[in-house]
Amino acid sequence: MQFRNVATPDGTQLDALIVPVFKEGGAASGTPAADRETAEWVAREQGSSSKIFSTATHLRQRDGGQATRLVVVAAGRREEYDIQRAWEVVSAGIRALWSSTTKTVGVALETQALPGAEAVQAAVEGVHFALWRPDTHRTVEDENPLPPIEDVLFIVGDAHVDSDQAIRCGIAVGEAVNWARSLANEPANLMTPTHVAAEAAELAKSAGLQIEVLDEDACRALGMGSFLSVAHGSDEPAKFIVLRHHGRAGDGYDLAIVGKGITFDSGGISIKPAADMHLMKFDMSGAAAVLAGASAIAKLALPLNLIAVAPCTENLPGGHATKPGDVFTSMSGKTVEVINTDAEGRLVLVDGVTYAHRQGAKRIVDVATLTGAIAVALGRHYAGVFGRPDEFVEEVRQAGEVSGERIWPMPLSDEYRDDIKSDIADIKNSAGREGGAIYGAAFIDAVVDADVEWAHLDIAGVAWYDTDRTFSPKGPQGPAVRTIVELASSIASRRR
Ligand code: BES
Ligand code: MN
Ligand code: ZN
Repeated sequence: MQFRNVATPDGTQLDALIVPVFKEGGAASGTPAADRETAEWVAREQGSSSKIFSTATHLRQRDGGQATRLVVVAAGRREEYDIQRAWEVVSAGIRALWSSTTKTVGVALETQALPGAEAVQAAVEGVHFALWRPDTHRTVEDENPLPPIEDVLFIVGDAHVDSDQAIRCGIAVGEAVNWARSLANEPANLMTPTHVAAEAAELAKSAGLQIEVLDEDACRALGMGSFLSVAHGSDEPAKFIVLRHHGRAGDGYDLAIVGKGITFDSGGISIKPAADMHLMKFDMSGAAAVLAGASAIAKLALPLNLIAVAPCTENLPGGHATKPGDVFTSMSGKTVEVINTDAEGRLVLVDGVTYAHRQGAKRIVDVATLTGAIAVALGRHYAGVFGRPDEFVEEVRQAGEVSGERIWPMPLSDEYRDDIKSDIADIKNSAGREGGAIYGAAFIDAVVDADVEWAHLDIAGVAWYDTDRTFSPKGPQGPAVRTIVELASSIASRRR
């Protein structure tokens, strides 16, 4: 696929043209003059300006040439238009071209509500997002094949947009997001910790990252009793995956990213109900996000040192499985009482975070499908962020905003820290249902030293959609990759 920027598509025969139209009626600023009126009319007539991301297709006859498929996408209110809307709108437009034979597509960009380069990057990411499909194990022919798109023209009108870097970033991030989605989508029998490690090795090779995979013996030698306790019930060997990117001279890490890698979460002895348990194959979305994020950072050669950590294991009941009430010693030295074996994510994360700290990281972001409670609190449109100090939490939230991911800050104070004190050990892994997402964060907080800046992203509500949206099929969404890359990029540029 080729991406390029043009003022107008003059002289290029477009098979399709995607035009975002705002709720108030106006088409995106880059819309070719010849199409503006038609696009605005289609939006009005078909009511597609009312429901955000809805699309309407109109065949526009051109003098001489072939017809162009005009795809009008409802872009919401202009004043609300942001990076996330921008990639979602483009994804919705490209998805409307599934089953068509589109090879050359124009995308009218909005470059007034957004800076041009950001609009281009968001659009490149949107195109990638739209061309991912979940049915990788279907043996029958596609009913709804992907369009054979070869050329994508971003139409910017008279705006001056320097797009080379934006296109490069968009491709790296777009591919990384889809890689993360693919990993999360694979069934747990085909994506065990061993498989994740193999995928990570391939990714590391293609991106130029160093990889190290610690087996259970190595983890035991490091004292990772909390992580390993989750693996006790499974016959699949746990893997602790580490990727390293050295993008600047000198030692130390400017950023560590740690992802929860539960390749299947049955709940363990505190077993989950059968309904929807099959979806718990995506409980490694945090691990997928940090691995994918590291690959994009390496491909873009961002000038910082980064370590990505993905502790991976299944959480199953079994003869050796953890029993409620069992106590283990984490790598930090803190002892943990397992009240509920289904609160396993925090058990693997504490050892991941301690490992990252011992490797020299002073800034750590962990990413996890940690709690159902975060979806109760925020629904399915925002991830939650916790951490300390507040300035760092804000930096992570902002990296989300700039890169097109919605993240909302959540509280964490000493009252919550007190509530997870154990009667028998230092901390316990569950304090009941109320405020569940906060107790998950408070548990990880217990092993984070005062000299560390730390943020915890709970992506359990946004990692998987249960229903189709116009811009995305139901299934894995690949959250946190964009935020990670943007955060690394802002840390790298601050260092200069
Ligand atoms: N992986 C789940 C959280 C989850 C639930 C992710 C639904 C995505 C969708 C996590 O391990 C879990 O089971 N958390 C428990 C914690 C509780 C036992 C303290 C939860 O959220 O109920
Ligand atoms: Mn669980
Ligand atoms: Zn889990």
